Amino acid sequence: MTENLTEVIAHRGSKGTRPENTIAAFQEAIDARSDGIETDVHLSADRQLIIMHDEKVNRTTNGTGLIVQKTLAELKELDAGYKFSPAYKGERVPTLDELLDLLITEKFHGVLNIELKTNKISYVGIEELVTETIQKRDLPFKVIYSSFNGESIRKMHELNPDSEYAKLFKTAYKNAMLMKKSKLIQGIHPSVKWVKRHKYLLPNVLIRPWTVNAESDMVFCFNRRMTGIITDYPRKAMTIRKEIQG
Ligand code: G3P
Ligand code: MG
Repeated sequence: MTENLTEVIAHRGSKGTRPENTIAAFQEAIDARSDGIETDVHLSADRQLIIMHDEKVNRTTNGTGLIVQKTLAELKELDAGYKFSPAYKGERVPTLDELLDLLITEKFHGVLNIELKTNKISYVGIEELVTETIQKRDLPFKVIYSSFNGESIRKMHELNPDSEYAKLFKTAYKNAMLMKKSKLIQGIHPSVKWVKRHKYLLPNVLIRPWTVNAESDMVFCFNRRMTGIITDYPRKAMTIRKEIQG
């Protein structure tokens, strides 16, 4: 990542062009030379860290029910590719460890943004498990943590005070500003709508809006040299960034 360029962070891998949060999506993000990859983690019934966006498997797989009520073996039986396109039939639900393996094998040197999906189900102990999973490896890339749940960030910060944190929000930014003031976070990950509404009053923090998919939104963020954008279309974003920032 060249200094001062806006980071292109691939949302759920490359959600716009691959089945979200699968190895195929992460591989595409790597191949597109994204600066970063964003992903979401949950806990299974047997306390494995599972990569998926929703609490339930219904939308993205051929199964039904909550991740937290399934074992890893049960989750591994699901097809996480077919609903996106029959061409991706056979894609499996990955674990955080499997994503880390891929990034190491592919010599990824960008930023991995792990979003703790604890805003609907608190997944007691997930912060300790994520910490353990990251700390047991000597990762050759940077990990940043984000969450809509401020409590999860607080717990992560206690366990890893030297890591980088960002508060996610759609519109409610006051809590994020308080967290910044207490040095719990270095950045904010707001909706791009909020960023556009506050364009003249943007706070002085690292800002990585989501989900920056429209070309006009990409241009807006690149022209303002935001810290990063989180996008479903990393390949397209890399091309547009090159036109604007070189
Ligand atoms: O981290 C940015 C973005 O992923 C937050 O929203 O719902 O896509 O996880 P969501
Ligand atoms: Mg997310």
